Amino acid sequence: MIALEHLVKQYGTFTAVDDVNLEVAPGEIHGFLGPNGAGKTTTLRMIAGLLKPTSGRIIVNRHDLAAEPEAAKASLGFIPDRPFIYEKLTAGEFLRFHAGLFGIDGNGVGTRVREMLELFELGRWEHELVEAFSHGMKQRLVMGAAFLHRPQAVVVDEPMVGLDPRGARLIKDVFRRMSQRGVAILMSTHTLEVAQEMCDRISIILKGRIIACGTVQELRDLAGGGDAHLTEVFLKLTGGSGLQEVDEFV
Ligand SMILES: Nc1ncnc2c1ncn2[C@@H]1O[C@H](COP(=O)(O)OP(=O)(O)OP(=O)(O)O)[C@@H](O)[C@H]1O
Ligand SMILES: [Mg+2]
Repeated sequence: MIALEHLVKQYGTFTAVDDVNLEVAPGEIHGFLGPNGAGKTTTLRMIAGLLKPTSGRIIVNRHDLAAEPEAAKASLGFIPDRPFIYEKLTAGEFLRFHAGLFGIDGNGVGTRVREMLELFELGRWEHELVEAFSHGMKQRLVMGAAFLHRPQAVVVDEPMVGLDPRGARLIKDVFRRMSQRGVAILMSTHTLEVAQEMCDRISIILKGRIIACGTVQELRDLAGGGDAHLTEVFLKLTGGSGLQEVDEFV
């Protein structure tokens, strides 16, 4: 599970994340939607322990991140929007390096690394240098690293960017399977089809504040009912369809 309580992040006088409360239950896939600059990455980086909140509390799998950072981080997988992978490692080396960071060693490592390579369809690439990988392959490798230590909560920033349909389907299937095993997943995305299809609940953040939270149907009801596509609901809730602005220029 992941719980955020009155989470705030200020940069000088600018408040990037403004009193955010959010809960992702075990087994839930929770979508984190919002326009560019709304505060999604800032929030996710705070949960991953990479940014220190100005105030508020973050609980990961019952561990308070400020009080028990190691236990909290050990139970979390984080997939950043722009991951860094040292290009001179092979896929297998990268995953073993990652296992070491999480204190996984001994006989289990090799088996677990191969499981992740198979799951993310990188089995053939175990001994190839990352520098030869396509964007989608790197993305899948980073996901493999995030799931390697069997985290009970996973935070993903923009998982579908640049993935081909097969890669996107693979990631969706993996997320679904992990959630069925009780993993809590918090996922930011601009791909509203993905959010509508996959997420049990969605939170919409605007200028650092959560302005709506619920199932797709609950968000539709908030936006005036009907069976509108999530894109319409999103635009309505975040203010303006943009069409008027377009009209002024064409
Ligand atoms: N280090 C920083 N110093 C000052 N302002 C920052 C810093 N990092 C982020 N911000 C600001 O915080 C706000 C939120 O940024 P954030 O990256 O969290 O947005 P986002 O919702 O992830 O957007 P996108 O959809 O474009 O990825 C933005 O206005 C951004 O300019
Ligand atoms: Mg972002």
